[in-house]
Order: sequence, then C-alpha cells, then structure tokens
Amino acid sequence: HAPLRVAVLGAGTVGADVLRVIRTSADALTHRIGAPLEVTGIAVTDLARDRGEHVDRRLLTDDPALAIRDADIVVELMGGIEPARTLLLEAMAHGASVVTANKALLAKDGVALYEAADANGVDLHFEAAVAGAIPLVRPIRESLAGDHIQKVLGIVNGTTNYVLDAMTRTGASFDDALATAKELGYAEADPTADIEGHDAAAKAAILASLAFHTRVSLSDVHCEGITTVTPEDIAAAGRMGRVIKLLSIVERVEEEGTERVSARVYPAMLPDSHPLASVSEAYNAVFVEADAAGSLMFYGQGAGGAPTASAVLGDLVTVARQRVHGGFGPRESRYADLGIIPLDGL
Ligand code: HSE
Repeated sequence: HAPLRVAVLGAGTVGADVLRVIRTSADALTHRIGAPLEVTGIAVTDLARDRGEHVDRRLLTDDPALAIRDADIVVELMGGIEPARTLLLEAMAHGASVVTANKALLAKDGVALYEAADANGVDLHFEAAVAGAIPLVRPIRESLAGDHIQKVLGIVNGTTNYVLDAMTRTGASFDDALATAKELGYAEADPTADIEGHDAAAKAAILASLAFHTRVSLSDVHCEGITTVTPEDIAAAGRMGRVIKLLSIVERVEEEGTERVSARVYPAMLPDSHPLASVSEAYNAVFVEADAAGSLMFYGQGAGGAPTASAVLGDLVTVARQRVHGGFGPRESRYADLGIIPLDGL
C-alpha cells in the first residue's frame, strides 16, 4: 500500500513525542497499519525553536494551510479555536481523516467537526482530548454505546491535580507547584485554562456529549477552578480527614419530570478513603456509571507529552488502518510485533 501522508499541526510537548514515535517505531507502525506513515509537513509558529532530533527541520513550515494540502491524515495538536477549526474543516472537506487533541475546540464547536466528518465520510478521532493516555473517549463512544450512562465523575485535569497534591503533601506554594507542572509539560500553553477549570470544563462537555448522545458545549458547564483554594483550606480539610480535588461531574438529572444533563467542575472535599483522594501528581481517574455495566473506573496518566502522545498515536493507527483496510488491520500481521508464528489449525 502507498504511504499515508500525515500532516502534523503543532510540535510542542505532545507533537514532538508523536513525531518521535512515528520515527523510532516506523517498522512496527507500518506493520500494524499495513502501510507506512510519511510525515509530509509539520506546522509550527516558531520555526527557529529547537524541537529535538526527531522533528525533521526540513518538514517545518509556518503555513499550516500548506501543511494540510494533499494530506491523507491531519494530526492537530496546535490547540485553540482558530485557525485549528478552519484548518480541520478544510482538511476534512478535502477527504483527510483527522486526529485531534483539541478539547477547547471540540467543547466549543464539536458539532461542526462531527458534521464535517459525516458529510465527507472521513474519520474524526480525539482520544487525547480527554484524560491523556487513559482510554476513555472510545470506551464511552463505542464500548458503552449499547448501555445507558447515568454519570461520569472524576479528575480530568492533571495540572490542577498536581498543584493540589503538591500543596497537600509537601506544603508547596500554589505558584511553585504550578511552575513545576509547567516544566513537566502538564499545563496548557496558557495555564489559566487549567487553574480556572476551563480545561476540565471542556473535557466535561466532551464527555457529556458522548455519554448522553446530546450536544453539551463549554458554556453549559458550571465551572469553578482552584485559584481560590488556599493553603488554609487544604489544612482545614486535612484536619477533617479530607482532601481537596478538582472534580468534573456530568450526569442525567430529572427536573419536573424532564430529563436534563447537569455538567459541573468545582473543587470538592473528599474523604481520605475515597478512591479519588489517592490520585496523585498529574494522574487522572474517572468513574463511569451505566445501567447495565454498573460502575467502571478508569485511571492513568492524564497529562504530559508521552502519555498524551500514546492516545494520539492510537487514533493515528486507527484512522490509518481505516484508510488502508476499512477495518482493524492486516490479519496476517496480527502476531508480527511479538514474533509469534500462529500455529496451523488454531
Ligand atoms: N493541561 C492538561 C492537563 C493537559 O493538565 O490535564 C491534558 O489535557
């Protein structure tokens, strides 16, 4: 099969890791997909910045419209509403599949993207937009599609969890903890979105839309961040055997006989014994409650370059396979990565 042309928009913390894996695991990815991936353009705003040895400088451009031209797959990691929105709509109109981690865009204008994907018959995947490495979008969108989800509740912002955890456990100051979260690549380019709860609210909107098969946008989510949480609040909670966590909760509620969706983000005091109380550093943890499945817990690294890149790469393999086979990949290479030869007759 001919190489699949991949344009990558944005080469920051996550983008650089995605490009690293595309390069260092090229053979394995080719095997799993059934065709090689060929990165044909990497759009960045700062051409001069050093992005490490795995970002091929010859592919850099500051013109994203040029990068997406002729691409089979566009991986969007630039963030923000514009120009990401226009570029992705244009890419899909030209028949490209899209992988994006852009929670702000999906939460604000996801419908336009879903409709463009439908209208053009292309794939749109966004596992990395919510909870980093944790498979959560796909389980809700696919695995639980036959169930009836009542509630999704948990910690979906790594930066604020890191800050609250550091303030609680080591007595670090808010500013020092946030500075470290930035250094570790957890925070958004503008960490205001993290600490004010907007990032968690965007994720809540995405989760609610998927879980309840409805349109929930950022403005529908009640949102309080952690900027008003003081060391005194944390100490007082500790004396009561509680910890403060930033929770995102989306659920079905019945109001005067009508079913509605409630979506909210706010710092909450949890008893020490609660499973979410022990979620440390930039980890995320999410409970999904569904009628038939009961309660499910998802836990893992919710932020950072490599974990988020894992989710992006999973989506990339999925959309690439779809383009090559219209399915789950070449049957004969199912065991190839492990070097196991399937036994005859099994
Ligand atoms: N800034 C986000 C967080 C990155 O801290 O969770 C992952 O979406």
